[in-house]
Amino acid sequence: MIDIHCHLLPGIDDGAKDMPQALDLAAHAVAHGITHMVLTPHIQPGMYNNDHQSIQQVFELFRQAVQAQDIDLQLAMAAEVRICPEILPMIAAGEIPLFVSADGKKTILLEFPHSHLLPGSDNMIAWLRKQGIDCLIAHPERNKEVMGNIDKLLPFLNMGCKLQVTAASVAGSFGEQSRLVALDLLERGWVSVLASDAHSLRRRPPELEAGRKAAEAVIGLKSANDLVVAEPQAIVGGMFASA
Ligand SMILES: [Fe+2]
Repeated sequence: MIDIHCHLLPGIDDGAKDMPQALDLAAHAVAHGITHMVLTPHIQPGMYNNDHQSIQQVFELFRQAVQAQDIDLQLAMAAEVRICPEILPMIAAGEIPLFVSADGKKTILLEFPHSHLLPGSDNMIAWLRKQGIDCLIAHPERNKEVMGNIDKLLPFLNMGCKLQVTAASVAGSFGEQSRLVALDLLERGWVSVLASDAHSLRRRPPELEAGRKAAEAVIGLKSANDLVVAEPQAIVGGMFASA
């Protein structure tokens, strides 16, 4: 399985605190059937002041440590980017690492605030698409405004945005409301990818299988498998020698 949203890189956001924790998470992912991970630390100006360079520095250290430990996990790096006006000049300057598909298509993993859909988000997404960048919206099933009315996602879907639902939401780990919204999104066929959004072994571990299995009960085996293999591969296939 391919996990394209997780916070394993140590010490640069609210994910793994140090290298031993990060390595434990990597080993846990492999033990739970994950073969490829794109590491996506937060970029949120004022809160998590990461950029391409700061992420790459930690990424290289982590990749070496994973190899040294003989953990059989293919790694790549991108970011989970909080939507706000400050990110636009960063993107224009190439300071935000993006997903890259096998044919070179770029995609940004975008996070809305948890409480609401930021006014003007549609304008920012239109600007991104003008730069040739597709948008994958992170865990909409955990956004309060979407939880109140799933149709609020329609303008973004109509602009070509894809949706990433967190596997643990489908499995019920974030409560009944998130689970029901996640199931509704799956039933509507609006979900492109399941990802772990792993932060720690205790709080959101790097696992996809429980969510994949819960999704299978709703959309069937092939579609559920696609959410953790073919669909993420279509988005990040250019980032791995073999995905
Ligand atoms: Fe995340």
